[in-house]
Amino acid sequence: MGRELNLDAKVIKKDLNWAELGFQYHRTDFRFSASYENGQWSDGELISEESIAIHEGAPSLHYAQQCFEGLKAQAAEDGRILLFRPDLNSERMNHAAGRLLMPDVPGKLFLRAVEETVRANYAWIPPYGSGASLYIRPMLIGVGENLGLKPAQQFEFRVFVSPVGPYYKAAGLAVISLAVSAMDRAAPNGTGSFKVGANYAGGLLATREAQQLGASEALYLDSAEGRYIDEAGSANIVIAMKDGKLITPASRAILPSITRRSLMQIAEHTLGMQTEERPIELHREFADFEEMGACGTAAVLSPVGKIWFDDAWHTIYQDGQSVGPIMQQLYDSLMGIQKGELSDQFGWLHEVTV
Ligand code: PLP
Ligand code: COI
Repeated sequence: MGRELNLDAKVIKKDLNWAELGFQYHRTDFRFSASYENGQWSDGELISEESIAIHEGAPSLHYAQQCFEGLKAQAAEDGRILLFRPDLNSERMNHAAGRLLMPDVPGKLFLRAVEETVRANYAWIPPYGSGASLYIRPMLIGVGENLGLKPAQQFEFRVFVSPVGPYYKAAGLAVISLAVSAMDRAAPNGTGSFKVGANYAGGLLATREAQQLGASEALYLDSAEGRYIDEAGSANIVIAMKDGKLITPASRAILPSITRRSLMQIAEHTLGMQTEERPIELHREFADFEEMGACGTAAVLSPVGKIWFDDAWHTIYQDGQSVGPIMQQLYDSLMGIQKGELSDQFGWLHEVTV
């Protein structure tokens, strides 16, 4: 079914105002669904129904037995459709699955599901140069009847896609602000380093409070001492120091961002910067921050102009509204690779044939 469906979809490119898209759910034509029962995954298939009917006792609903991933497909100028390091999303999903007593999604199934969903929704892939991209959301949920606190017996693996624009309001490389939250995101031996929905529900209030202060997002400090920078609500942190180093927090409680790992490699190997992953003490080190960025699949690399802490705004780079040269270079290098404009020197791209 897939092949015919793709060819049809390919000729009818959707007529969306791509440049105006924000980061919202936009229903596309197909999603992939596979189920796990009696120790086995089904082959999975493309379906059109976006709703999922699950049992009222499903552990994903009561006990948050679920995890998810996020990656993007970009259209290159020559028409290629490019994924960025999908193998790492597959690996990370299986780390989360193991932590929550869910079955691994085999790497081959993960990649086939992503590829088939992207291909089938070809018409929804924002064109090269539009500033938008196709966001891909794989998810694994515990379904089936359950009441006591124990793992589900059945699971669903689903992949859906949505064309998206920038995560933060302004287009392109927008400067954002962060407000340090008094709430903790995750404990050192908790689930902070896993991409599980439970981490995010607890962060909704922190995000709202940050936004009430006029910030784009919450910034979390480590929950043991409240001294070291952990991460933002939906992104990791990178900091260009006045001594020329690019540093990023070492913490067991943060998500191992694929974007951040890639940026650190670009900084070291392409920009020739010294890099360090280490605890970063906000109050003691703030004066040495030259530029800061929040990075992730949705956030890409958003320069952070100012941070709210100790009841005041503290600007980082110049007036707190300008993009600094290091974040600009990192952003250009990363986007250049992701869109196929620069050479894929690290072997990060995965082409989806259409
Ligand atoms: N941190 C959190 C809490 C996130 O939700 C995300 C988004 O996935 C990231 C960091 C960035 O991770 P990645 O670069 O793999 O998208
Ligand atoms: C992503 O960047 O892919 C995420 O999952 C962040 C999410 C909060 C939108």
